[in-house]
Amino acid sequence: MTGRIPDSFLDELVARSDIVEIISARVPLKKAGREYKACCPFHNEKSPSFSVSGDKQFYHCFGCGAHGTVIGFLMQYEKMEFLDAVADLAQRAGLELPREAQAPRDPGSADLHDLMLRAARFFEQNLADNARAQAYVQRRGIDPKISAQFSLGYAPDAWETLLKRFGGQEEDQRRLLQVGLILERSGERSSGYYDRFRDRLMFPIRDSRGRVIGFGGRVIDQGEPKYMNSPETALFHKGRELYGLYEARQARGDFKRLLIVEGYMDVVRLHQAGITYAVATLGTATTQEHLNKIFRITSEVVFCFDGDRAGRQAAWRALENALPLARDGRELKFMFLPEGHDPDSLVALEGAETFENRMKESLPLSEYLVQQLIADVDLDHIDGRAKLKALAGPLFARMPEGIYREMLADRLALRVGMPANKLKEFFDAGEPKRGATSAPEPRGRQRGRMSAGRGNLLTQAITLVLHHPKAAAAVPYPEALARVDKPGVTVLKELLAQAAAAANPSTAVLLERWRDLPEYGRLAEIAMGEPLVADPEAATKELRMAIEKLLDEYGPGRRTDELLRKAEETGLNYDEKAELSLLLKSKGRPQARP
Ligand code: GTP
Ligand code: MN
Repeated sequence: MTGRIPDSFLDELVARSDIVEIISARVPLKKAGREYKACCPFHNEKSPSFSVSGDKQFYHCFGCGAHGTVIGFLMQYEKMEFLDAVADLAQRAGLELPREAQAPRDPGSADLHDLMLRAARFFEQNLADNARAQAYVQRRGIDPKISAQFSLGYAPDAWETLLKRFGGQEEDQRRLLQVGLILERSGERSSGYYDRFRDRLMFPIRDSRGRVIGFGGRVIDQGEPKYMNSPETALFHKGRELYGLYEARQARGDFKRLLIVEGYMDVVRLHQAGITYAVATLGTATTQEHLNKIFRITSEVVFCFDGDRAGRQAAWRALENALPLARDGRELKFMFLPEGHDPDSLVALEGAETFENRMKESLPLSEYLVQQLIADVDLDHIDGRAKLKALAGPLFARMPEGIYREMLADRLALRVGMPANKLKEFFDAGEPKRGATSAPEPRGRQRGRMSAGRGNLLTQAITLVLHHPKAAAAVPYPEALARVDKPGVTVLKELLAQAAAAANPSTAVLLERWRDLPEYGRLAEIAMGEPLVADPEAATKELRMAIEKLLDEYGPGRRTDELLRKAEETGLNYDEKAELSLLLKSKGRPQARP
């Protein structure tokens, strides 16, 4: 439906929006020095630790760690999706959304949405008029209020009700077919169409903007198939949508997490019980697309499964899909219900509080993973280790490199009584990272990974760029830097290039491009930290120096020698002279060669 938004557009959007203005419209801010303070809207507190910086165009809470740009704020506070937040800001700033970011291109899609809405209303009306369907809703323990909130409906027990109501013209029938509400007859003698959903309780599925894009239909009482879903259409993609997400956002209770369950009925009943952060996949496993969507809204996800074999299998599949997205700062948990129960039946039996208590005891992904690996392996046998390697290797290979993966390896090592580095060695050796199932790199280019310990110098340089983007933009980019091919240096290079290219560089403009990348967390942390120096001029100087030192350390040939040679051969230009003198000073080398 939507493509990628060009980085340049996001740069401009962030530069043109004022985070102080946007936040202060929602949270009362008090000026404190160069920044603004407030009690954090994302956790409960009495004294203000939420801080907004107009200079950096960034917010940060020292209490709960929430942080981000103006886009991030809208996503977190208003529970908007990325594209919606972008659209909102663009409108305020008077910028026209690039085509990629606009809603479905097909000019007919508004018509299709409208048709779906009319169909949903039609089903709703039919539910109100049908005693048997109403009795079923009641028997399932659904309150009228919640039924209305989810716009539950009923598709009458006849072949052509919807068709007759909405399919007057050939054109109308074509649309009904397009959205999957009718099917084509295939018999020899008959021709024409008939309703897809008949004698079913209807659950409209809404997208993030609340538009009806599909339906789930449950048979009343017994029958096969129990559930029927809309087919994939121009509006509806099962692997992308979550039932109840729109309603969860509407409920607005500041949800800290999302609970993913399996059924429509579960979602409806959980919401009714006050657990309004429940959503369901639509009869498919949780995809990475689902998870990407979810992690834009919250950092904690609990998967809930039945305790039976099928449930455990589904859980493992969810784990495999979630691994590429596991990283520091995200919580993925697994909750298993007692056999014979689903959330609907359990919450009816025990109530919401007990259910939420169970949720608190759910297994973190790391724990679940380690537990499963160990359960399958007999470590007292020689074969056990080989098996562990065979099982764990591919799983680890799916995870992005980083603290989280390291931590998981440590934990596994501890549990199997093996030195951590030994364990890691054979994971690294065993699995070339082909990334068969690894997450697609979002938004464009593949970037170098920052390795945690790689020199303070690099961190210093990155800190300077992030805190003084304007100063960084003015630092000449030495040609030699382009040739340095070290992981963390690549990040620095990207940042420098971004700063230089941006029309109006700010911390937020730089950071926004990293949102979906593994380095984001670390970069945000640096951006929130103390600046090394306060004023931009000092920053320029320090940055030049740091870059020179880096070149000296990693450069392909020493930069100083290169410049000295050039001075002898062809002479130096102004920038190069400055660079050389800085280099020589910083190292206390003799001023010149004989
Ligand atoms: P109730 O029996 O009404 O409580 O439904 P449930 O939500 O508990 O259903 P169940 O646990 O059996 O199934 C979970 C989900 O799997 C449903 O919400 C559907 O999305 C899907 N599903 C179940 N049965 C079918 C089926 O027969 N066909 C299809 N396409 N999907 C199904
Ligand atoms: Mn059920």
